[in-house]
Amino acid sequence: MRNQADRIIIFDTTLRDGEQCPGATLNIDEKLIIAKQLARLGVDIIEAGFAFASPGDFEAVKKIAQIVGTEDGPVICSLARAIKADIEAAAEALKPAVHGRIHTFISTSDIHLEYQLRKSRAEVLAIAEEMVAYAKSFMDDVEFSPMDAARSDPQFLYQVLERAIAAGATTVNIPDTVGYTTPSEFGDMIKGITENVPNIDQAIISVHGHNDLGLAVANFLEAVKNGARQLECTINGIGERAGNAALEELVMALHVRRQYFNPFLGRSEDSEAPLTNIDTKQIYKTSRLVSNLTGMLVQPNKAIVGANAFAHESGIHQDGVLKNKLTYEIMDAQLIGLTDNQIVLGKHSGRNAFGTRLKELGFELSETELNKAFVRFKDVADKKKDISDWDLEAIVNDEIQQS
Ligand code: KIV
Ligand code: ZN
Repeated sequence: MRNQADRIIIFDTTLRDGEQCPGATLNIDEKLIIAKQLARLGVDIIEAGFAFASPGDFEAVKKIAQIVGTEDGPVICSLARAIKADIEAAAEALKPAVHGRIHTFISTSDIHLEYQLRKSRAEVLAIAEEMVAYAKSFMDDVEFSPMDAARSDPQFLYQVLERAIAAGATTVNIPDTVGYTTPSEFGDMIKGITENVPNIDQAIISVHGHNDLGLAVANFLEAVKNGARQLECTINGIGERAGNAALEELVMALHVRRQYFNPFLGRSEDSEAPLTNIDTKQIYKTSRLVSNLTGMLVQPNKAIVGANAFAHESGIHQDGVLKNKLTYEIMDAQLIGLTDNQIVLGKHSGRNAFGTRLKELGFELSETELNKAFVRFKDVADKKKDISDWDLEAIVNDEIQQS
């Protein structure tokens, strides 16, 4: 397991909450490919699925636990409602992982209690406590989420968290399930938790948030300033409705502005030390891979990984950048794994250059697949002068994914 003492823990939920967005369904092999890449990216925890949800999800969690959940690999996690059968399925699927985590949840907002759960606060309190203890009987690493925490009564939330920690939760995750909160409110909420939950020092505070108002990343950064140490996010921000907090935006904000956000300053003398375990050079590749396999396109102006994120169009900007990059760039494209001197692919390019570029774009092709795609590439290159990354992705998707 990776060092987490002086790092912000990155919990990736692309394969669980991310996959919950319409049209993004992945099969087991695709999930495994993404999980391997997430491990290369350096995420600390992979939420591999919701084992009870379907036999396919169970198998995916199990396979990822077997293949990616190694001694030095990430923690592999499965979601489970606060229901015995869910927790049992999660525990079973996670058995092969060296480091496993059960993530169990129950709603705590009055609106969810009244209309969805039809339970009283006292009942929810008792269930949370009992099910965390049940999950703990299977493994040490247990995460508890009070769903819709951001719209819950803070006093009730403090009580639930205290009981969940007493029952064995090692991480308590605070979800803004409907993307309703604002940065200062969310920051205050985390501060309130640190001040009002008596046993909070026995657990890590995590945050989880949706992007309905486009505020998820800003909310998380404010949460970090107020004591959150785990961030739940997805590649390209995919997820329910407007999506989840985007991993690449969080990681690069924490990297580029590390002196501003560093909650460990004072403990660690090194103000330049990275704040996460993420290998930022793997970010672009991971983004392309997830986009290709889920079919979820990345908008061109998307921060960090959009096609225009490092492009300069205006004459004034181009002039400035040519004189000194820092005039209009706050980070180097190479930091996220883009190369400045990209090989231009055309009809004269060989199989090696073609294969190398595909690897940079996140494709892991077998020999046969590469050969097939190369034949198609030559065909397209004969008709088209410049072959863009988008063309390459289209070629691979047409030839390989659908065959
Ligand atoms: O958005 C949410 O509340 C969730 C929980 C299961 C953590 O996804
Ligand atoms: Zn969610």
